[in-house]
Amino acid sequence: TPAPPGTLVIFGAHGDLTKRLLTPSLYNLTGAGLLDPDFKVIGVDRVDADDAAWRKELSDTMQEFTKDPHAEFYTPKINEEWWGSLSNRMSYFKADFTDVEQLKALGEKIGDGNAVFYLAVAARFFATVAENLSKAGLTRAPEGKYRRLVVEKPFGADLDSSKKLNAQLLSVLDESQIYRIDHFLGKETVQNILASRFSNITVEPLWNRFYIDHVEITAAETVGVEQRGAFYEPTGALRDMVPNHLFQLLAMVAMEPPSSFSAEAVRSAKEALYESIRPCTKDDAVRGQYTAGRVHDRDVTGYRQSNGVAPTSNTETYVALRLHIDNWRWSGVPFYLRTGKCMTDRLTEVVVQFKRAPISIFRDEPVDELPPNQLILNIQPEQGMTMRLNAKIPGAAMDLAPVEMKFRYEDAFNLTPNVGYETLIYDCLIGDATLFQRADNIDAAWAVVDPVLKAWEADPSGPELYEAGSAGPAGADRLLAADGRAWAPLVNRTPDKVG
Ligand code: BG6
Repeated sequence: TPAPPGTLVIFGAHGDLTKRLLTPSLYNLTGAGLLDPDFKVIGVDRVDADDAAWRKELSDTMQEFTKDPHAEFYTPKINEEWWGSLSNRMSYFKADFTDVEQLKALGEKIGDGNAVFYLAVAARFFATVAENLSKAGLTRAPEGKYRRLVVEKPFGADLDSSKKLNAQLLSVLDESQIYRIDHFLGKETVQNILASRFSNITVEPLWNRFYIDHVEITAAETVGVEQRGAFYEPTGALRDMVPNHLFQLLAMVAMEPPSSFSAEAVRSAKEALYESIRPCTKDDAVRGQYTAGRVHDRDVTGYRQSNGVAPTSNTETYVALRLHIDNWRWSGVPFYLRTGKCMTDRLTEVVVQFKRAPISIFRDEPVDELPPNQLILNIQPEQGMTMRLNAKIPGAAMDLAPVEMKFRYEDAFNLTPNVGYETLIYDCLIGDATLFQRADNIDAAWAVVDPVLKAWEADPSGPELYEAGSAGPAGADRLLAADGRAWAPLVNRTPDKVG
């Protein structure tokens, strides 16, 4: 069903997010028939432009996606009818969001219908835009209509700043009006973790400390800091990826069954999980920074030599953590998280490693040589699930070998084009906040990593160096070796393209 009519107002009309993610997603939603004929998009920015110029700018970026089949958002061909239908709804409004009078004029353009204000601007402006929208009277919903605000990460830079930002937003808006986006929740494979756990009887009985040895969550990237030095320098891998994206994966894997798939039930189950994670200490954390090297067949400059990066920078481009969840289900089961830039391969996955079989009845296969079962949730680029089991090798002898049972999205389903923001934008338009963060979820996640951030700030020794194109710093291997374990290999076994 198409979302109800209304206006999506994008602050940051010329920004990267608008071009690379929001517009392609709106285009896909148009193609899927999920936007009402009276749905409108208004792009707001300070730069001089008119409707035609803005549409042309966005159309040019859309065309770029048709050129490189290996690009992230490859679309073989733009469907002119979809694009025409979307671009006709798009108009440009030049305004400075610090000027309440200009926002009032924007209000006249919106009228008295539904409106979503999407803050595709730098995080330091979030509170200002929200306050000024409120002063301009735009956050008060007309009778029977809604007014919502979408906020992107980074949501604060630590626990204190996140609490402050939440307080600022909540002083001018109701919690139910705020949609805090984490794009990992837009990924089909991430949503599917909940679907698999809570619609299949076979998974849940094993999903606890009696059967699971440990869990690894990996988000390895081949890209480096690229042109984002100014953003990345004060941020680093921990803030950029962990309390947000990796914690979404962690929550999907580890939370208790919510009572329903409603926003409050799911977000409360997440909250209960986050609150039972022991705050992480420096001894459970490893930070790394890449030096020059080769990633696939590309030469990469070292992080410290990149644009916008200090030659003595201590910013981490890699982080590995060991987390302990102090609840009945997970007590004693470590969760190892790692993420890094310029690594061997692009690979986001969750490896759930089960305990070994208790004994081996096979003479030539001692139990400690029987590989433990693993369930791998393949998030990207491979999309699906893999179960690693042991099987008999055909022949007279009773010899065993590890084998894989696989579910792949592209085999099982017709994949519709998906940038990852479609579901999230649609959900916001229909008022379903299940896949968005509540204020307490954000604060609770920061509370887990805050001690590490503080300890690193006070420790001048800085990150351990690792060569670009490698699997990360040696310290990360030592972290697991200390527990008698090792990371799963970082190998992407599918061609690297977006599904
Ligand atoms: C973003 C981070 O939020 O997520 C980037 O700022 C990172 O540094 C990106 O590259 C990863 O997202 P995805 O969807 O490519 O895995």
